[in-house]
Amino acid sequence: MSSDYKDFFKVFSQVSKAIHSGENTTEILGHIVRNIKEILGAKGCIYWIVDRQQEKIETMVSDGFPYRSLSNVNYRELTHIFDTDRGPIVWIEDARTDKRIPDLDTIGKRSVGSITGMFFDIIGKYSGILAVYFYAHKSLSIEETEILTALGEQGAIALHKAFSYDEKMLQNLRQMVEGFTLALEAKDESTHGHSVRVARFAKVVAEEMNLSANDLETIYHGGLLHDIGKIGMNDDILERLGILSRKEMDIVKQHPEIGARIAKPLNFLNDVVPLILHHHERFDGSGYPDGLKGSAIPLGARILTLCDAIETMLAGRTYFAKMKVEDVIVNLHQEAGSHFDPVVVDAFFTVLEARPEVFEVQINGAERNCLANYRQKMKMNGASPQQQLFI
Ligand SMILES: [Fe+2]
Ligand SMILES: [Fe+2]
Repeated sequence: MSSDYKDFFKVFSQVSKAIHSGENTTEILGHIVRNIKEILGAKGCIYWIVDRQQEKIETMVSDGFPYRSLSNVNYRELTHIFDTDRGPIVWIEDARTDKRIPDLDTIGKRSVGSITGMFFDIIGKYSGILAVYFYAHKSLSIEETEILTALGEQGAIALHKAFSYDEKMLQNLRQMVEGFTLALEAKDESTHGHSVRVARFAKVVAEEMNLSANDLETIYHGGLLHDIGKIGMNDDILERLGILSRKEMDIVKQHPEIGARIAKPLNFLNDVVPLILHHHERFDGSGYPDGLKGSAIPLGARILTLCDAIETMLAGRTYFAKMKVEDVIVNLHQEAGSHFDPVVVDAFFTVLEARPEVFEVQINGAERNCLANYRQKMKMNGASPQQQLFI
């Protein structure tokens, strides 16, 4: 047995032990990259975890690379260098002349001879990319390739275990949030079930827009929690939303920021925070808290803004009566482009026409015609500002 193999078995058993004792994933990956670098006498080794669905790098653990080196590539650059279509192992024999690595300054290929990259499926949308960089031009022996594959695989197993565990934890935590929201809303007679319905409506509209399963879940939780910042606000103020003084209005308008502050420390709600914060922005930039405009408003927040308004219009409040579906359609048509994103309104109209029961309403022939007419005129819509009912 060569000394390479002895080292390899030592590392392999250490990593296995670390995985089974539940050691931190970053530490396990750190252990793997350090040892690969040493065993293969490489310049450096990097293990990236990429989210293929969101097209972003989740985590990167490296050893042997200075700042402003290959460790700084973004998702696009990374998948260009290690193009999955070329097979599970990518070999770049001469990094200095290879066109896949175009930028000398930011990628630092001046000091790299050969590069090898390998792909590993971790779980769902997550993949691992393991890259080893050598000083000189080098070709890997079969043994070295085996070592690399085995250690990379081991990293993927460690990540699979950690991610499955995280997923289970996330599910439990999210169920807790759902229970918490239901309990809160059950106590509030005026908005009974508002957030749950907003969450449900928003998920259906997002589905119609072909968003990913992950986005649907984020939007659903955003719906449940969008008004969480109203906790602790005076019930008397919340019950008089339609007739508030300017000072009282300013207090109520703080609820997106308060809500975002409540959710921010909870890591598992990271994606939900921007939705809570921006659910009162308006498409034309006249909303709050930041006056964001158009596509600068997160799409999930644009969906919530619309569904928040729809639920409020259909259910009514103590300060205004339930609206008829026809009036809701007219209202949305007028507000598309000013208050609401027209694309989101269009997705809502599509679902309303096909499955009105989703929104707990029925539509008659006249309303169906009205919907068809408005959908046709939608593209030429000139929006008009209206009284802001939805706070
Ligand atoms: Fe709100
Ligand atoms: Fe709301």
